[in-house]
Formats: sequence, structure tokens, C-alpha cells
Amino acid sequence: MKLTYIILIGYLISAVFIYGQTQLTIPDTLSGTNFNLTVKSGTVNFYPGFVTNTMGVNGNYLGPTLILRKGEHVQINVTNSLTDTTTIHWHGMHVAPENDGGPHTVILPGTTWQPQFTVMDNAATYWYHPHLHKKTNEHVTKGVSGFIIVRDSNEAKINLPRRYSVDDFPIVVQSRAFDANKQFLFKSELDSVILVNGTKNPYLQVPSQVVRLRLLNGSTERTYNFGLKGNKSFYQIAGDGGLLNVPILFTRLRLAPGERAEILVDFSSMQGQTTYLMSYASDLSNGIIGARQVGMGINGIPNYSNNKLNGADFNILRIDVIAPTVNPITTIPTSLTTNIPWNTASVNATRILTFTSTGGMMNVVGPFVINGVPFNMNTINYNVPLNNIEIWELRNQTLVAHPFHIHDVQFYLLDRNGSAVPSNEKGRKDVVLVLPLETVRFITKFENFSNSMVPYMYHCHLLTHEDDGMMGQFLVTNTTDVEIENPSLPNEFLLMQNYPNPFNPSTVIGYQLSIAGHVTLKVYDILGREVATLVNEYQTAGLHHSQFAIINSQLPSGVYLYRIQAGYFTETKKMIISK
Ligand code: C2O
Ligand code: CU
Ligand code: CU
Repeated sequence: MKLTYIILIGYLISAVFIYGQTQLTIPDTLSGTNFNLTVKSGTVNFYPGFVTNTMGVNGNYLGPTLILRKGEHVQINVTNSLTDTTTIHWHGMHVAPENDGGPHTVILPGTTWQPQFTVMDNAATYWYHPHLHKKTNEHVTKGVSGFIIVRDSNEAKINLPRRYSVDDFPIVVQSRAFDANKQFLFKSELDSVILVNGTKNPYLQVPSQVVRLRLLNGSTERTYNFGLKGNKSFYQIAGDGGLLNVPILFTRLRLAPGERAEILVDFSSMQGQTTYLMSYASDLSNGIIGARQVGMGINGIPNYSNNKLNGADFNILRIDVIAPTVNPITTIPTSLTTNIPWNTASVNATRILTFTSTGGMMNVVGPFVINGVPFNMNTINYNVPLNNIEIWELRNQTLVAHPFHIHDVQFYLLDRNGSAVPSNEKGRKDVVLVLPLETVRFITKFENFSNSMVPYMYHCHLLTHEDDGMMGQFLVTNTTDVEIENPSLPNEFLLMQNYPNPFNPSTVIGYQLSIAGHVTLKVYDILGREVATLVNEYQTAGLHHSQFAIINSQLPSGVYLYRIQAGYFTETKKMIISK
């Protein structure tokens, strides 16, 4: 009896080792200048006997890795085969707002969006994911996202591993929650299952030489504190938006949702051995989601302490070291690039963004807001003049850490609570984790792209917080080609009504003008192209009550912006035509 018992235990343990692990999926690559991406629904068997409904790009879960070259002009055809509207955003890339894929640039089911842009970014690891207002979490959780690897001539000169899936591996880590039927749950506090590139319990074979891992935290809320088992050290060579000046030696590397890091690991002397990429979350400071504690008592996150990953050290990826390849990289470069941050002496504007919880100071669940207001699709929070160099000061007045992300630009951190930032945060970044009660300042420049209609976003990259309204938007405007918006409404002109929206068969925009002059209404499509102009002229002073009627039947279904202008008064609003 006793013997059977021991054998059974032994069998179960070996079953876990032999059958429990799956070779890590490495996404296919697409390269060139023309890309076809189809966002679709699919299914995956994450658990034997269960079919999980997923979404993916050109496949069932996640999407291909896009390999782009700096300086090349690319066209991307994004077809939406879902039954739901979506968008695709090129996270970290410097593109015009109409090509950025933010929440205004919706792709209706059955349609294709065709952004085109010149790749202006430095070699680094970027990613793409949906950005539909209030639905980013759902679409990303179900599986819509992929890597973008940008290559450039500076990086090409350095002796680095760059053979995709040979000595250079993309690694996206996503914690997920499943319900009893093994469907994804969007309540992310139950996220106790780790998927790496969509693989559960993965292992990866690496050659015994210097290997590059491109780490992306693609989770909804969870921060990881990456490390290799046994405190084996590694070098960080790049952050979100480019190479660091020099490789930096670490045994731990914290990455919040949205952040990327490229690391080099020297496996030269480890052939035949196994190690693990882990998260040492027991070292994360309280208030970071993934740490032992976030909030207290009734103010805590429900079920937080029941999630076995929180505050624990856990395996993410088993790494088996096999024979070296031909022409292996065996050395770590001594220098990489020269990052030159903008000078604070040339700053044109400083903006202060304060994060608070609408549930009060002790609340760690939110909804959280920036400067007291939740995101509103129809409100432009900032107008940034083209070519401005600005400091953004992020003041976190909550007890939870928020990874702040801004579109359009890469930034350089100036300080954290007035002190110097760690050396691996001195490169170009587009996400920064702002700790509880911390103030972080960055400097950036808004160059190359302006559009008086289509805004860029900034937001918390905890997707639940983003969807709940911890987001704002800004226009980059060029004063040489557009009028400056006058925020105060002149007495002579009053916008009375614009209703209903969406509306058929016509949208009515009423106003009142008490002076002579003309009122102009222009309608733009989401790419900023003017599709209609209407002008009403008044020869005499006196109270003119009038209205514009946009006959919707003349415009195809879609999202539009209309701009009404009378003297110095300008107002831009969104209009949806659906038939
Ligand atoms: Cu990765 Cu605005 O997002
Ligand atoms: Cu982004
Ligand atoms: Cu947040």
C-alpha cells in the first residue's frame, strides 16, 4: 500500500515535468514595406478539453512581429474581421496622429484601415495593440497585440545578437484570469496564470552564447521584477524607445505594463543546464500591482491576497541551454549609443498632471483621474504648439503605482521625487511607472506632426485604469497653418446646440450671432481631410439665430470631426454618422 502511494506521487511529479511544459511560441515575422494585418476572433486550447475564445492578428492569439527599418515608408492594411469595432495603435512609435490608431481612429467591422508612415524611430522594441475607448482591456486580454522591432544603421554596427528566434527572442509576459469554463476574465485581480507569447508553462531552448531577450510587459495591471534563477546577472541594453548609452549589469529588472527592455544574457558556460526567467515580486514595493500589498483593509483590492502571484517569486519561462550556433556572439559591447536629452533651459512649457482616485485618498481601486477629470472623447485636454519642448510633471496622489504613457513622443526622465533616476531609465522612454505619492518629471519635444483635428493620447497603461478614464488627449497644432483656438466664448457668438449624435438623417448645429460676419462649418474625416464646408454670411448686426444642417446621407458612415468658426471662436466636436 505504502509503495503504491510513493510511486503515484513520483508519477505525478514526472508528469508535470514531462507533459506540463510547452515549447515557447515565437510569433512569425512580417517585413518589407507593405503589411497586411487582419484582426479576427479565434480559439485556443490553453487547458486540455477547454476551448477558450480569443482574438488575434492573422491568427488565433497575438499577432506577427513586424520588422521595420528606420527611414522606410510603410503601408499597413489593418482589416477588422471582428464583429466589434476596434483600433490598432503603434505603441511607442512617432507617427502622425491620424496614423497613430488612438480611440478616434476606429476600424468598423468589415473595413480596412490603411495608415502609412515613414519609420522615424530608433532601433528598439515597440508593440501594437487596440485602443478602443473603454475596450482596450477586453481586446488586448483576448489576444490582440504584437511586437514591432525597429532596426537602424546605428544598432546594426554594434556586435549584438539579432537573429530572430535564434539568438534574439521576443518575450511578452501576460498574466491572465480564466473563469470556470476557461474563458478570459477581464477582472484582472484574479490573474494567476502566466502566458508568455501566449504559451502556458513554456520552455525555450537558447544556444550557449550571448542571447538577446526583448521583454515586454503586456499585462493588464501586473508589474514584474524580472531576474534569472540563482541571481545570474544580465545586461540591459535598451529601454522602451532605444539603446542605452552602455549595457547595464543587473540581477533584477522591474517592468510595468507597457514597458519594454532588451537584455543580453551570457549562457556561454551553461550548455546542458536549465534555468528560469522569474519574477521576484517579493521585492516589489507596496502599492505596485503585483507586490505583496496594495491598499489596506476595506480599501484594498478585492481578492488581492488570494492571488498566489502577488508578492511571490515565481517562474515565468524555463530556459534550456543547448549547443551554440555558428558564429555566436560571445561578448558584451562596452558602449551602445549616445543619448542626448533636451536641455531644460530650452523648455517652452511645463504641465502638471495630478493623479487622484475618485474614491478618495485611501482608495486603490479607482476610477482614477488625471487633473480631476475622466477622459472625454470630445474634450481636448491640452493644445501643444508644434516644436514645443515641454516638461511634464506627473504627481501621483494615490496609494497605487500608475505606469504613465504618452503617444507621439519618446521622453527622457528628469527626476523621481527630485532625485536622479536609475541608469537604466536614462534612455528614451514612453512609459514610466509613477510610484505611490511620487512625483516624476520628464522632458520631451513635440515635433514633425501637427493636426488640428486628431489628438494624441496620454494615459495610465493599466488597461483597467485607462478604460475607466485615466486618460487625456492633446492636439499638436502648428500656428502657421491653423487659427489658435480661443478658449473663451466671445459674447457675440454662442453655440446653441448640436444634436443628436449619432443622428439620422441630419445633424443640426444651431448658433446665435449678434454681429455681422460669417460662420463657417467644416467637416473632416478621421484622417483630417476636409469633406464638407458650409458658410453662412450675415451683412448686418443684430441677433441671428441660425443653424447648419449636415445632411448625413451625403457622407458615408464613419467618425467625423466638425469645426465651427466665427471670428476668433473655434470649436471642434466629434460627429458619428451611422446608417
Ligand atoms: Cu500602449 Cu496608448 O497605449
Ligand atoms: Cu502608445
Ligand atoms: Cu493607473
